[in-house]
Amino acid sequence: MTDLPLIAVLVGSLQPDGLTSRVAGALERLGAERLTFARVPIGDLPLYSPALEGNGRSVAAWDAFRERLAPAAGMLFVTPEYNRSVPGALKNAIDVGSRPYGASVFSGKPAGIVSQSPGALGGFGANHHLRQSLVFLDMPAMQQPEAYVGHSGALFGDDGALSDGPGKDLLARFITSYADWVALHARKAG
Ligand code: FNR
Repeated sequence: MTDLPLIAVLVGSLQPDGLTSRVAGALERLGAERLTFARVPIGDLPLYSPALEGNGRSVAAWDAFRERLAPAAGMLFVTPEYNRSVPGALKNAIDVGSRPYGASVFSGKPAGIVSQSPGALGGFGANHHLRQSLVFLDMPAMQQPEAYVGHSGALFGDDGALSDGPGKDLLARFITSYADWVALHARKAG
């Protein structure tokens, strides 16, 4: 057990050892003195449809997902970019967590957003499409430092460990700022 704030980590790629998961792991390690992280899987969530719940009906996987997110003090989104936008699995997870109407598990939770790409643009399009959803979800999303992690394959050495350099410095700065952001919003909530 720990008194550190619990942060739910939503990884937008379903590849268990993909670059996004590795970037998320690096953030979790860099932030471990200030935050506790819990990855919440999104890959087995059925596609959201309001027709499948309510009036005595429920979807067990959706309920379990919401229950895992509910106690979190904040949400960290780490995502690749698919076709200049948010991967469908992550968008579906957001839709599931946002409903039933009026019972969103995201409301008011401080968010951090990191996009990554092996390409040069660092998933800028996904990062900002995600921000658009978070406005509607009423999540205070940290604005600076922005984290569009480009050429993400080069962040890691042959042993898989995060290499020293500007990429590591950005991730460290990001997660420190995010811990401050979570603390700020915890004070507001309290
Ligand atoms: C991609 N990729 C990609 N990259 C990018 O920078 N911009 C993009 O719009 C896209 N579009 C895209 C669509 C689809 C369907 C796939 C499968 C891939 C490449 C993507 O960023 C790369 O595969 C990442 O490494 C995926 O992250 P993981 O799975 O390695 O964590």
